Amino acid sequence: MRLLFLGDIVGRPGRAAVIERLPSLRERWRLDGVIINGENAAGGFGITEAICDEVLAAGADAITLGNHSWDQREALVFIERQPRLLRPVNYPPGTPGRGANLIDMRSGGRVLVINVMGRLFMDPLDDPFAAVDREIEACPLARVADAIVVDVHAEATSEKEALGHHLDGRVSLVVGTHTHVPTADYRVLKGGTAYMSDAGMCGDYDSVLGMQKEESIRRFLQKTPGSRMEPGLGEGTLSGIAVETDDRTGLALRVAPVRLGPHLEEAWPRFWD
Ligand SMILES: [Fe+2]
Ligand SMILES: [Fe+2]
Repeated sequence: MRLLFLGDIVGRPGRAAVIERLPSLRERWRLDGVIINGENAAGGFGITEAICDEVLAAGADAITLGNHSWDQREALVFIERQPRLLRPVNYPPGTPGRGANLIDMRSGGRVLVINVMGRLFMDPLDDPFAAVDREIEACPLARVADAIVVDVHAEATSEKEALGHHLDGRVSLVVGTHTHVPTADYRVLKGGTAYMSDAGMCGDYDSVLGMQKEESIRRFLQKTPGSRMEPGLGEGTLSGIAVETDDRTGLALRVAPVRLGPHLEEAWPRFWD
């Protein structure tokens, strides 16, 4: 399968980049599945149902979330009727929505998508390692799922790498989100799992993590309350990872970074050109 994972959509620039570019990328690269983190899609904070529908219509098969899952309170309600929207799987029992789902990709094939949150420098949640293990045991790679994608929404690279190696050979892709800056460590691990510590964000990179830099700088300079954090206003860049998996094993064959738009050096999977 040909899979594309894109990092956190931040505000309008991120949404615009996805909506403008994704339909043609799906076609050009003959993508089988597209998964995007959307936790900052609504003005930098959470996701609304209208935005969720818009991103799915643009060509995403699944949308993952993170620590901003509930910033738009309506998400607590509509997530129950949207099986393609996932919140972290290790939230306490009783949390609305699901953290993992075997999702039919539009072009055929079924991908188990898991969203999990790290615990280092984040809210204390249930054990992410055990939570993902449980989901994979219930829906193993190759036997049930054609591919398994794990979005590790975490602050610490150590936790993401440890989870990557822990899952190596059992899932197709372990990719980090949340830190909004793409890392250069994309690779296929020894056991056949594709890995990247952070997918980066889909947003305006002339910013601080997608938000207007002036207010962010001010908050570091002066410890006084200021104005609201707002997403950048410039053109958005897409950032993420492209993975090709083996149809028999579901493991990764090759990976490439994806960076399309201003401010970052452009990158794309040349093996699909
Ligand atoms: Fe984020
Ligand atoms: Fe986050």
